[in-house]
Amino acid sequence: MRMRKKQWAEPFLKEHREIVIENPNEMKGQWRHKLNCESLHVEIGSGKGDYWCKMADIFEQDGWIGIEKNRSVAAVAVKKAVSLENKNMLFIALDAQNIDQWFDEEEVNVLHLNFSDPWPKKGNHKRRLSHSNFLKKYEKILSKDGTIVMKTDNKDLFEFSLVEFSKNNWFMQDISVDFRRNIHDEDAISEYEAKFMALNQPIYRVIFSKKQLEVRE
Ligand SMILES: C[S@@+](CC[C@H](N)C(=O)[O-])C[C@H]1O[C@@H](n2cnc3c(N)ncnc32)[C@H](O)[C@@H]1O
Repeated sequence: MRMRKKQWAEPFLKEHREIVIENPNEMKGQWRHKLNCESLHVEIGSGKGDYWCKMADIFEQDGWIGIEKNRSVAAVAVKKAVSLENKNMLFIALDAQNIDQWFDEEEVNVLHLNFSDPWPKKGNHKRRLSHSNFLKKYEKILSKDGTIVMKTDNKDLFEFSLVEFSKNNWFMQDISVDFRRNIHDEDAISEYEAKFMALNQPIYRVIFSKKQLEVRE
């Protein structure tokens, strides 16, 4: 997400250490305890934080961690959380490249990728958050029955991601090529999602798990 650098962002992020974790390596293995939760959700590329904030409100028994590398954008997200005063939210305003150093093996239950940057040029595909290099890191930190939920408006990114997950032996649990055709109160609408919905563009969503999950009758 492009945004002009906000001068207030750095001091604001430093002022809100109750939410912003500047050294996530030091929290490895302790996130659930810190958030007093059994189930830990992590959103990568949270943007201005609408999804992170709304989901933390809906599922207040779970822990919600947002990650956003653009510190000005991150500050906007954290500002929203400060006004909510929820106790189940933390934020990492850093590049998720090092995500496997921040979380212990199997520490995360659900990873959310909402409208990740599409990086259309082939030479930039490694930057896609669903590239194999990232999937290998996610595999380490996700719990045994952990899942990744991905939403996008971008057909090309969606197709690429399905192949990447498949190449890495992930199991597809659910897929929709028009997720908002039905009402889904259980899933919040992100900033980008709202824009694409207003343009009547279909929202693609897929859920993958690390292992085959039991089928419930
Ligand atoms: C297109 S925006 C979508 C924002 C939000 N998820 C939404 O749905 O409205 C993607 C965001 O992901 C962030 N991002 C991209 N790669 C990242 C990375 N490696 N680590 C952390 N954030 C990243 C970008 O800075 C940008 O703000």
